[in-house]
Order: sequence, then structure tokens, then C-alpha cells
Amino acid sequence: MAVRLQKYLADAQVASRRRSEEIIQSGRVCVNGQTVTELGTKVDEGDVVTVDGKEVHPADKLVYIMLNKPEGYVSTAKEQFGRPAVLDLIDCEYRVYPVGRLDHDTSGLLLLTNDGALTYKLTHPKHNIDKTYIAQVEGIPTAAEMKRFSEGLEIDGYTTAPAKIRIVKKGRLTTLEITIHEGKNRQVRKMCAAIGHEVRSLKRISTGRLTLGGLEKGSYRLLTEDEVAYLKTL
Ligand code: URA
Repeated sequence: MAVRLQKYLADAQVASRRRSEEIIQSGRVCVNGQTVTELGTKVDEGDVVTVDGKEVHPADKLVYIMLNKPEGYVSTAKEQFGRPAVLDLIDCEYRVYPVGRLDHDTSGLLLLTNDGALTYKLTHPKHNIDKTYIAQVEGIPTAAEMKRFSEGLEIDGYTTAPAKIRIVKKGRLTTLEITIHEGKNRQVRKMCAAIGHEVRSLKRISTGRLTLGGLEKGSYRLLTEDEVAYLKTL
């Protein structure tokens, strides 16, 4: 069945459909050896499509991976500013992408997939999926500070939604378990700093019902069928 070139490229995980349109218009795409810049162009089975001279094919298999991201890796497909990318840790014949991101200095649960529709759904702000973190912070938060944290506080002119915070272990560094469902830039770090307790280390241990369990830092595994089915219900 013939499909529009931009859909073909999106299905081949080249980029989102919108970005694929830009790639086509910039003259980087050939169909059967001819450069095509027309967005409406249809491709049929048997047509050979290349981007920057490399053949691309729609992914015929969807893969879902859970990685325990180590600190020091960026949650992008390619390295940035000399920092390695999480994809360097994954040996997968399909081109997968991180679902959302963890900071360079955050470790823990990161999902990767080539299922663009699921990625879109899971990263859309309207999907309030709980994400739980273990944070080591300076000092011991008081009850009043914990209340401010859980009721919502201002970071960068934005008031955070209600969040959960619980002390796991007190000390010079206190271990906190924190659950938020938003995904603002460096949100947990900024929320902790806003109550006067700088984060010294941060690890995501769950996304919705999916938990890191005993997955070792730097290791990854395929999600189970049940886990994938669960994510699709969100
Ligand atoms: N909050 C942060 O501050 N950093 C992360 O990586 C994730 C949530």
C-alpha cells in the first residue's frame, strides 16, 4: 500500500512526521535514486528510500527497553559536548529512542523504544504518570519544608503540582523518596533546592507501575509483555 513519504520516514524511525517533512524539503531524501522534495510524494512497496544516502526501512518490530542509566550519560541519541549518550549502552538492531529524559547527572529508570506513538503518549504533559526518585539531599528537611514541597512550590516562576515526599533515612545527607508526575527541567533538584536542601544524588526508581528492581546500573532489559500492555493503557 502506498504511503506518504513523511509517514514512511516516521515509521522508519528517522524522525517525527513533522521533522521528516523538513528533512524531505531540505533535499536529503531520495526515492529510487531521485531526490524528492515534494511532501505529498507516495512510496510503494519495493521503492528504495534513502536519507543522506542511507537506505531506510519502516521498523517491522517494536522494541521496549528499560535501562538503568548511569550518571554521566546524556538521554539523547547522540553524544553531546563529549558526554556519551545512553544509546552507546544499548546493543539493539532497531533504532530506539529514550522516552523523555533524565539529567546527565541523574541515574535510574529510563525507557527506550522505537514505538513513536507510545513515546508521544508517555511524554505528553497531560499524562500524569507518577515518577518516583530516591534523592540524597544536604541536611534534614523539616516538617514545614516537606509540607511546602508536597503542596507545591515555585520554581522558575512555575508552581509545581502536589508531590509526595518521604524521609527514608536521616543524616548529614538525608535520603528522600519523592514522587512527582510532571517533568520540568531539573524539577526534583530545583524543588529540593527551593526548600533549602541541595540534591547530591538522584536516581529514578519507577515510572508508573514499572520499577527498576534489581537491574544493575548500566544494564538494560526488554520489557515484559505485561509491562508493555500496561504502558499502553496509560
Ligand atoms: N528531576 C530532576 O531534577 N532531574 C531528573 O533527571 C529527573 C527529574
